[in-house]
Amino acid sequence: MKYPKEYLDEIKTRLKVSTVVSKSVALKKRGKEYVGLSPFKTEKTPSFTVNDEKEFYHCFATSEHGNIFDFVMKTQNFKFGEAVKHLAQLAGMQTYTFSKQDEEREKKWKEYLSLYSQYVDFYHDELLKNETYSDARDYLKNRSLGKEEVKKFKIGYIEKNPNFFDKIKNNFSEQALVESGLFYLDEKKKIYVERFRGRLIFPINNISGQPFALGGRIIEKLDYLAKYINSPETPFFKKGSNLYNLDLARKLSNKIDHIYLVEGYMDVVSLSKNGIENVVANLGTSLTDKQILILNQFFDDIIICFDGDESGYKAALRAAENSIKELKPEKQISFLFLPDGEDPDSYANKNGKQNFIDFTKQSKISIHQFIFNHYKSQTSNDPSSMAIFEKKLRSVAATIKDDYIKKYVLEFFLEKISSLTPHSNVGKKQFYVKKVKSLDSTKKHFNESKLISGVEIKEFSLLYLIMNNLDIIQENIHLIEDIKLFSAENKIIFESLLSKLKSGEKLTLENLSLDTQIIEKIFKFASIKHILNNNKDDQNKMFELLDEISKDLKNYDLEFRIEQLESKFSKDLSESTFDEIRELKKQKNIN
Ligand code: UTP
Ligand code: MN
Repeated sequence: MKYPKEYLDEIKTRLKVSTVVSKSVALKKRGKEYVGLSPFKTEKTPSFTVNDEKEFYHCFATSEHGNIFDFVMKTQNFKFGEAVKHLAQLAGMQTYTFSKQDEEREKKWKEYLSLYSQYVDFYHDELLKNETYSDARDYLKNRSLGKEEVKKFKIGYIEKNPNFFDKIKNNFSEQALVESGLFYLDEKKKIYVERFRGRLIFPINNISGQPFALGGRIIEKLDYLAKYINSPETPFFKKGSNLYNLDLARKLSNKIDHIYLVEGYMDVVSLSKNGIENVVANLGTSLTDKQILILNQFFDDIIICFDGDESGYKAALRAAENSIKELKPEKQISFLFLPDGEDPDSYANKNGKQNFIDFTKQSKISIHQFIFNHYKSQTSNDPSSMAIFEKKLRSVAATIKDDYIKKYVLEFFLEKISSLTPHSNVGKKQFYVKKVKSLDSTKKHFNESKLISGVEIKEFSLLYLIMNNLDIIQENIHLIEDIKLFSAENKIIFESLLSKLKSGEKLTLENLSLDTQIIEKIFKFASIKHILNNNKDDQNKMFELLDEISKDLKNYDLEFRIEQLESKFSKDLSESTFDEIRELKKQKNIN
């Protein structure tokens, strides 16, 4: 007897894998995952990992892999039913008792799956073997699809006057046949007809790979018939909760972190033929939040690649506004716009795999950038239009469920807007440069030092201070050991100074054997020179200055790292990057 999916899901949402596993295995957090010693093998170095987000554990030593139910079944020798009972209890839930309705539903589900699998197998074989199906085979050939793709996707063809219904009508209840959506009653003729007659069929599989719905493409050009039809929603199949090819694509998720989401069945098949298999299609309806969540269970990066025409663009915009709500730290949603008139199928057939991959790298844009670009293109440069623009972007950001992402997407939007309206920023930026009449010599010094950055000047000061206090620094080497320099040249000098000081030998400026030009430069630009010289013999003052310089350099380092992380964050919006930024900013404030 099968437990209802909702009941099992409820257990899974209440219990993290790490919670269940840590009852018997000591776990340590490492990045997104937990690691511990494998319960399946005696070992000294941990090869057992748990990923709460992906809802599984994996043992690299034994290749054992599974969810919480598998874990207790394997480690406690439980049957599935016992595992469910045990975990339900742990989750504080009632033990499930099966009702008559459950039994009914279970029976129907089995019948439904069996009908679909017989149907799909039958017409797939027919397409491969039946001599009279040459139209369908020619059609596939014209679209440059071969046996391999037909087999991989179990594509079938249903003739115009099929008689499969008569063959199987005795094996299934009438209700099952109708509820499957494969047949409907022709009221006039009082006979059951096949919905997909005259069409190529693309089986839509559930996550375990069992067919439970179809998409069907007409192969004759007939204006009065829809090009594609899909199975109607049935008690077991809901369009918005499923994706075409998810069953195959998800298997790649341990190798590839991104998934393409395309519009059509043919796009999936054709990309696969061209060697790109991490692709799913939504099923002729607009993208739902649920589909995003499902994809995110397996992939960190969703690349939405709709057709390069107006309807593709509109669909993409709808998808963007809908899915930005679900954007999570560590996850990305991007958009890839194909050249006008192309769809993924035609583009990949023309240009091949590598080009498609390169094109993705060059042209994909993040969801927040896409939304910004779209509304910007609708905005003219007058106050009312700008106001509407800002209001719209604020309202898009407000729909985002995750607080971190909400904050940063809003910041992204506002920053972008303010760069469009530079005048409202005049107060913040320093446009005014004080002009001083200067002597030629100071002018020269000024021009030279302009090429030298602020951080380099600090470095010169540090080197100057060390060179002029060799003995004292040698005794207090710990004060300078951890200082980090930026300019490559100064770094080398600093390191050579450091190692000489550490060697313990008595040092003088002369026996440092440094290039005189370098010494000159240091002496010229060390801004600390005058203060230090005015306070000769004041050791405390010297230490104070050293402390100040080392703090400043540390702050440069922090600032530099924060800047790098912020640019990373604007791309990946990951929570760990955000936390790192916050941590560094905290350190900077302490300094
Ligand atoms: P397209 O019209 O872009 O078709 O529809 P396509 O994928 O390029 O197919 P080919 O290349 O002409 O064979 C994209 C998707 O929209 C849905 C289907 O899911 C289709 O795969 N659709 C399209 C329908 O549901 N009904 C239609 O009449 C057309
Ligand atoms: Mn197409």
